[in-house]
Amino acid sequence: MTYTQGTYRNENNAAGIISLYEQIGGAETIDRLVHAFYPKVYEHPELRPLFPDGVDEIRAKQYLFLTQFTGGPALYTDQFGFGNMRSIHARFPITPARAEAWLSCMREAMDEIGLNGHPRQLMFQMLTNAANRFVNTQPHHQCGGMQAGGAPVELCEPLARLKSEHGPLREQMDAYAREAAEIGTNPNKTDWSGDIASLQIKVETFVRELDPHSEREEEILFPLMAKHVGRQMGPIAVMEHEHELAKQNLAKFTENARNLPGNVDADLAKEIVSYALQAHAVLTEHFMKEENVLFPMAEHMLNAEEKEQLARAWE
Ligand code: HEM
Repeated sequence: MTYTQGTYRNENNAAGIISLYEQIGGAETIDRLVHAFYPKVYEHPELRPLFPDGVDEIRAKQYLFLTQFTGGPALYTDQFGFGNMRSIHARFPITPARAEAWLSCMREAMDEIGLNGHPRQLMFQMLTNAANRFVNTQPHHQCGGMQAGGAPVELCEPLARLKSEHGPLREQMDAYAREAAEIGTNPNKTDWSGDIASLQIKVETFVRELDPHSEREEEILFPLMAKHVGRQMGPIAVMEHEHELAKQNLAKFTENARNLPGNVDADLAKEIVSYALQAHAVLTEHFMKEENVLFPMAEHMLNAEEKEQLARAWE
């Protein structure tokens, strides 16, 4: 199975590798999923205004699209050609809140139809990545005390630098997540220890890059912001909690990967890599929140002297 332009393709069937489409249960599961999902979208106050003509047509298209997206037959392209989903969505104002609403409906729909485990995690992660890419509009209001900003906020040098560190980090973690997603999928393979060892190298390299970035935030940015908004509750508490969650999952993965029993079967392999995938999911959302909300908020909140202090984080 390889990942090309958002689509998992089942190219290696001869080698016994199972596509995500097959792992989740194929056509029947996708049909149940879209039937559970769209009523929730239609009921959601953030999303309903986007669907004035109801959701029947889009549900049918989504069935075709998700079939293809998960590596099943190319039903969407066969009928509608190569549509660029990002430009299709550019016609609608998609705020971070709408993307989160869309994903929360998807989460509930997956719960409702009992789609669980590793394939669910992977599918949800792919949808999260796509939904985040479709965000094209920032809200014009204050959100729970977090100034999200109307027009894009121009960030001072140290904040812009923190934001720009996300790009290479995101690439690294997406690469390890793609590798992690393959582990445990070939039913003919009885020992996955080599694959986990190779993933471990990638994850540890990523952690080495992530750590100094996290430290700059934890030791300088968050305390500076906490002086203005407090630390126990609100945005800083959320950000710190997410750092902790990602770290715990990465540490659990590494600890397990370093102490493998001789032979690692598919179930154990999936359990071990699920920690790395959890960390990836947490950090994907976390980076988006920082870029869309936290950094613009810091830009407004911190005074010149505090920004100077932040700039010294790289010295
Ligand atoms: C980020 C939150 C999202 C919002 C608010 C959103 C909203 C919309 C809207 C308003 C439409 C047009 C409906 C119409 O034509 O009546 C649409 C179409 C569509 N969306 Fe989304 N969407 C989101 C995320 C996604 C994601 C993550 C996927 C899949 C990866 C997706 C797949 C599709 C497909 C396949 C169509 C039909 C495209 C076509 O017209 O051929 N959407 N979406």
